[in-house]
This record gives sequence, C-alpha cells and structure tokens, in this order.
Amino acid sequence: MKTFTKIAKIYFSPSSTTRKIVDEIANKFEGTQEEYDLLNAASGNTPKEFDDDTLVIVGMPIFAGRLPKTASKKLMNFKGENIPAIAIVNYGNVNIGDALLELNDILKENGFNIAGTGATVSQHSIVTDVATGRPDSKDLEKLNEFVEKCKEKLDSEEFENIEVPGNKPYCEYKKVPLAPICDESLCVYCYECVSSCPEEAIPDMAPAETDTNLCSACTACIYACPEDARYFTGDLFEGMKEKFLANFSKRKESEFYL
Ligand SMILES: Cc1cc2nc3c(=O)[nH]c(=O)nc-3n(C[C@H](O)[C@H](O)[C@H](O)COP(=O)(O)O)c2cc1C
Ligand code: SF4
Ligand code: SF4
Repeated sequence: MKTFTKIAKIYFSPSSTTRKIVDEIANKFEGTQEEYDLLNAASGNTPKEFDDDTLVIVGMPIFAGRLPKTASKKLMNFKGENIPAIAIVNYGNVNIGDALLELNDILKENGFNIAGTGATVSQHSIVTDVATGRPDSKDLEKLNEFVEKCKEKLDSEEFENIEVPGNKPYCEYKKVPLAPICDESLCVYCYECVSSCPEEAIPDMAPAETDTNLCSACTACIYACPEDARYFTGDLFEGMKEKFLANFSKRKESEFYL
C-alpha cells in the first residue's frame, strides 16, 4: 500500500461533524497528521504548498447549497501541484446543491489529484432534530468502505476526472437570515464565542452583542459556549424548524464518487 509521510487535514467545522468525518478518514492512514482549521481566523489566509509525500483530506459543510464563503475563499490558498486529495462535503440531510461540484472545481483548479470525493450526511447544525446523532455507525461503515476504495485508487496513481453532481453557474449563495442571541443571565464572560467566530461578528468585550450583518449563522459560537447561552430563536427559526421536520426527516444516505 502507498504510504504518506504527512496527512494534511483541511476543514471548516462549526458544529464539529465535518471534522469528525475528516478525522475518521485521516485515521485510516499512517503518517503524521497536520491540521488546517479554517474556522480559526488566523488559518488559511496565505498561500500554502505541500510536500510530495502528503495526502490531503478536505472537509467542508454545505451552507445553502454552496461552500461557506469564508471557507471557500481560504481553501483557494491551498495549492496542490499533483498532491492527492480526498474531498468531502458534509450536509444536514436537506440538499447538496452545487457544493460538491464547487469543492471539486476549487481543488482541481489548484492542482490537486482527487482520489475520491463525496457528500456525507450529519446532524443539521441549525435544526438539530434533523439527522440527529449522525454520522452514526451505518454512516461510518459506508465511509470506511469508501476509504478502502480510495486506498486502491491511491495505489494505482490513476486520477482520471471524477464526475460529480452539480450545475454551473452554481446556485446563488444565500445567507441564512438568522443570528444567535445571547442570554446574558447565563453568560460567564469566558469569550469562547468571540474566539470561535470566523466572521468576527461578536465584539471582543461584549459577547451579548452579535453583528447580524457579519454573522453567517455558522453555529460555531453556539457549540463553543460552555453555558448554552447562545441559541437561535424567533419566528423565522421556528418556521424553519417546522418546515425542515416536515420535509427533510426522511433519511438520506451519503454518496461517494471515485
Ligand atoms: C448557515 C447554514 C446553512 C446550511 N445549509 C444547508 C444546506 O443547504 N443543506 C443541508 O443539507 N444542510 C445545510 N446545513 C447543515 C450543515 O451542512 C450540516 O449540519 C453540517 O453537518 C454542518 O457541519 P459542521 O458540524 O462541521 O458544522 C446548513 C447549516 C448552516 C449553519
Ligand atoms: S456569531 Fe454568527 S458567524 Fe459568529 S460564530 Fe456565531 S453563528 Fe457563526
Ligand atoms: S461562550 Fe457563552 S458564556 Fe462564554 S462569553 Fe460567549 S456567550 Fe458568554
């Protein structure tokens, strides 16, 4: 089996499920792991190239049928130069839109050789009653089968073009018009939310305030808060919950392309 000295994990994962998928894949390979957590404001802002003996694993969540804008902008800084990559978009059982195509396009344009790609299903980070608890053991079993096939492909070193679903021009990126509120009576002013926010939407010394224009509804601050002080609320959120439960409760399965 082909071995790699380094396994580079590149991900954007506000509620941690995408990171879980990337870790699951990375742990099936030997090699020293290095991480590029694009949620981190300081990460991914400058051009980055990889050594020849590296395998790159990329995981991106789907936001409104596209890649999150902040994440895709940073991803463009990673240059492939024939470095092999496994590329995953991770979504909340609603729709894939054009995100899988968008991810593959960015990586190909930047010179990566895509060994395998796919769309995995995880718990919806906004409407957590949809796909609750996923990825589950069935998901991970399917993911592991995919990784085994990726290994065969990496051994063969034949990286022909992989066709994935999606359309061009991509669907328009629509910002989800939600922003979390902060219950100040629960807040202990630890500022975890401030440092977790990829959009700098929470002022340094005022975690109860969120700049709704900057907020992308990514959910990072909600999952980072140790006191559960931050959450979505309001008619729009309740309406979204009701609609999603009615329309997207039926289980969708992950899909992979090699
Ligand atoms: C702003 C936003 C938009 C989303 N849009 C979609 C979508 O278009 N389709 C979908 O199935 N899930 C959508 N989701 C759900 C996430 O793709 C899903 O929960 C994913 O697992 C989140 O990954 P993470 O745990 O790494 O943050 C959206 C979530 C957020 C926060
Ligand atoms: S304030 Fe908005 S953009 Fe910032 S972490 Fe929270 S949900 Fe994400
Ligand atoms: S993470 Fe939660 S407890 Fe900490 S400052 Fe933010 S809202 Fe307050």
